[in-house]
Amino acid sequence: MALDVVVVGLGYVGLPLAQEATKAGLAVLGFDASAAVVDGLNSGKSHVDDLSDADISQMLEGGFEATTEPGRIADAKVAVICVPTPLSSDGLPDLAYVQSAGQTIADNLHPGMLVILESTTYPGTTDEVLRPILESTGLKAGEDFHLVFSPERIDPGNEKFGAKNTPKVVGGHTPACADAAVEFYGKFIDTVVKTSGTREAETAKLLENTYRHINIALVNEMAQFCHELGIDLWDVIDAAKTKPFGFQAFYPGPGVGGHCIPIDPNYLSHNVRAKLGYPFRFVELAQEINATMPQYVVRRAQDILNDDSKSLRGSTVLLLGVTYKPNIADQRESPAVPIAKLLLNAGANVQFHDPFINEWDAMKGRVSRAGDVADAVQSADLTILLQDHSDYDINALAAASQEFFDTRGKTPRGDKVHRL
Ligand SMILES: NC(=O)c1ccc[n+]([C@@H]2O[C@H](COP(=O)([O-])OP(=O)(O)OC[C@H]3O[C@@H](n4cnc5c(N)ncnc54)[C@H](O)[C@@H]3O)[C@@H](O)[C@H]2O)c1
Repeated sequence: MALDVVVVGLGYVGLPLAQEATKAGLAVLGFDASAAVVDGLNSGKSHVDDLSDADISQMLEGGFEATTEPGRIADAKVAVICVPTPLSSDGLPDLAYVQSAGQTIADNLHPGMLVILESTTYPGTTDEVLRPILESTGLKAGEDFHLVFSPERIDPGNEKFGAKNTPKVVGGHTPACADAAVEFYGKFIDTVVKTSGTREAETAKLLENTYRHINIALVNEMAQFCHELGIDLWDVIDAAKTKPFGFQAFYPGPGVGGHCIPIDPNYLSHNVRAKLGYPFRFVELAQEINATMPQYVVRRAQDILNDDSKSLRGSTVLLLGVTYKPNIADQRESPAVPIAKLLLNAGANVQFHDPFINEWDAMKGRVSRAGDVADAVQSADLTILLQDHSDYDINALAAASQEFFDTRGKTPRGDKVHRL
């Protein structure tokens, strides 16, 4: 075998993995269905936040290559699947990408190969969806090839924890499959942790994300009643987090976004309902609360303008930061989108500013980008801080605004400064 590993799906997850493996001296091929992604990478261009063009050039110098040619997968000892697992239009798990990536690997499967699924998914996917596709070749998992689930834990924009120093969980179809994965990841990841099987590894990832989802919902609900009671929730959280055990701080915000928190818990609740016929009540409640945050933000915006004898209709509202998390350009599932839509429906003139994006894909043609943020905050009737990118001098922007609504709790309250 000429290749140590082929990474299938070169996005936010696959690319950092390919980078670490290349750095460790492994022979790495990247396979992606998108010719634009592959051509960009082979010409030294990065399309994800965590890797710069210089990082891609370094990978290419280290022997990395990207391809759309499926036949080359046959040359690899290990195949790692990092393709998207979105929700379908009716809110159900959509495993089409996993199935097609699985089929591409099946077409090139060989005895002794280690196949790893990293995409976040519901318990049973590796065994019930991926294994039959791979075994349709006549080769058997655990006997002829190794099959493993290993959840990806990458946190784009996190400067402290990346692919190398975040412990990697692996669950094998058999103990020998898990051992093969420990040996593989151990070459470029500091700590590898085994679970008893693939379902435990799949569920561990969903537990992690569901835990975040539920705790964010808890503080989002508290934010609403604390406002009514005149209690500063950020102050409450700062006090609570001084407890050195048994408490982890979560913060309220305008809603949950990104590829994980709004989507992954649905995979688990769907699975519980489909297999057992009853709801996963915590997840469903958290979804309900987090999903109402955009409406709550717009209602508060309306109240702020009302106090100035203005209506949303006809007012100019500036949205600062529309990506789903700070300091990255990822726009996926950002709560800024429903907020902008609700404001537009109410007749507001909506503008946005974000140092990371020039074109707001979801609101193209409907919301224009303010060129100069300092001018824009002065002329807007209301500025809403949705994302606290570190490029922003938030206190200065708040001071220059007519009204400033801070959904991230970064500015001290004042006459013209309102917190969520
Ligand atoms: N982005 C994150 O922060 C994050 C964190 C942890 C886990 N995850 C999970 O990791 C998985 C991948 O997410 P991502 O953010 O890297 O997605 P992404 O959209 O950034 O990248 C996925 C890539 O896969 C390619 N692709 C799609 N179908 C393919 C196929 N059949 N064969 C080859 N390539 C194919 C796409 O062209 C794309 O380049 C998802 O399950 C996600 O839930 C994401």
